[in-house]
Amino acid sequence: MPKLCVALDTDKDTALRILDRLSDYPLVFKVGHRLFIPEGRSIVERIKVKGFELFLDLKFHDIPNTVALAVKAAEELGVDYLTLHSLGGKEMLERASSEAKAVKLLGVSILTSHDEGYLGFLRTRFRSIRDMVLYLARVSLDAGLQGVVCSGEEVGELKESLGRDFEVVVPGIRLRKENSQDQKRVLTPKEALRRGADMLVMGREILGSPRPEAVVEEVLRDISHYERT
Ligand code: C5P
Repeated sequence: MPKLCVALDTDKDTALRILDRLSDYPLVFKVGHRLFIPEGRSIVERIKVKGFELFLDLKFHDIPNTVALAVKAAEELGVDYLTLHSLGGKEMLERASSEAKAVKLLGVSILTSHDEGYLGFLRTRFRSIRDMVLYLARVSLDAGLQGVVCSGEEVGELKESLGRDFEVVVPGIRLRKENSQDQKRVLTPKEALRRGADMLVMGREILGSPRPEAVVEEVLRDISHYERT
């Protein structure tokens, strides 16, 4: 069953208020640098104690030994999902997956803030971002990672070429497309589910809503409806 993940890109007080208001729903909470740097273990414990799953989005990219140690530390912290840059290379990804027991590792391929100009910057022979994303997803799968984070544009193709068991996590989800903010390409929950997304990541639309419960309920309804069809 696909999951809904709330991105807690906010301060501690707002995060705690959201955790309280959404405590009745089966959710994953994503903590990134914004919250993890100041709050660290304490916010992680507040999420876990309420029975939520924890997605630590720190996008590791370092020498293999350093990343392996970081994965081990995240494992001990009770993290359920953790991100790494697939560009870190085969050895980094393999060392990371050898340390991962319960934690699911997700590869980040090319950030959606990059466009085709990035290929020139890297001086790579890939002809398109899409080709490079597919390649990096394949490398991640072969190295033992459990999934990738990708844009809504890539999800269908990734699911098709990498198989159903490889999880695809999709940010840039909006209930209504006109609320895209700085996201260049957004999908509605229904569109992302139809393309095969395993986890929908939503931040500002939930955090900024006067009724975050209503937004969450609407997406969870889409998920359960999708499961039945
Ligand atoms: O507020 P919004 O719903 O746009 O938040 C999306 C979340 O997904 C943010 O935490 C952002 O860092 C993350 N993300 C993204 N695009 C990617 C990878 C991660 O928006 N390609």
